[in-house]
Amino acid sequence: MKLVIQTFVVLLVALSFMPFAGERNRAIAAENANPVKERQKLMRSVGKAMKTTVKMLRGDLAYDGAAAASAMSTMSEVAGKYTKLFPEGSDMENSIMDFDQESDARPEIWTNKKDFEMKAAALLEASTKAGKAAGDKKALAAVFNEVGNACKGCHQKYKAKKQE
Ligand code: HEC
Repeated sequence: MKLVIQTFVVLLVALSFMPFAGERNRAIAAENANPVKERQKLMRSVGKAMKTTVKMLRGDLAYDGAAAASAMSTMSEVAGKYTKLFPEGSDMENSIMDFDQESDARPEIWTNKKDFEMKAAALLEASTKAGKAAGDKKALAAVFNEVGNACKGCHQKYKAKKQE
């Protein structure tokens, strides 16, 4: 335990001598209050939109085309800006230190940035397509699995805890 604490202190001291990384993170953090919190909030709104839509498709809630279209546009909006909220040092291991917020973001996001962006683009595409079909329950049901696959496609690779 003592060794762990010592290592931690050494690491903190080392970090304080890395002005560039620190300043850059602070600048980004100031710009978006806290990018980790912000991206989690956005994902929760996507999760909520998903739940409402699934309930309507299953018949647990009365189908409402306008509500379904709005849920799909929530997803498209998030997909359009989501990947900008991943500054260096905000993955699941470093975020506590840099951003004071726990995260499920796997470090692979930063080593496969292009692929991660493609996964967000896949959600944008699927939710846009689903949004166009949302006026009709059957039409939406026919394309909705693409939306679910877009969530899975990204989470399996880039999100730590298994969810959705
Ligand atoms: C481009 C990749 C990507 C796509 C697409 C994606 N997610 Fe996520 N999602 C993530 C990552 C990464 C996290 C963890 C972020 C963090 O904790 O910093 C996350 C976290 C979440 C969370 C937890 C939010 C919280 O409270 O912290 C929910 C709920 C969620 N996603 C739902 C969904 C649903 C539903 C879809 C599809 C409609 C989806 N996501 C599509 C990457 C994605």
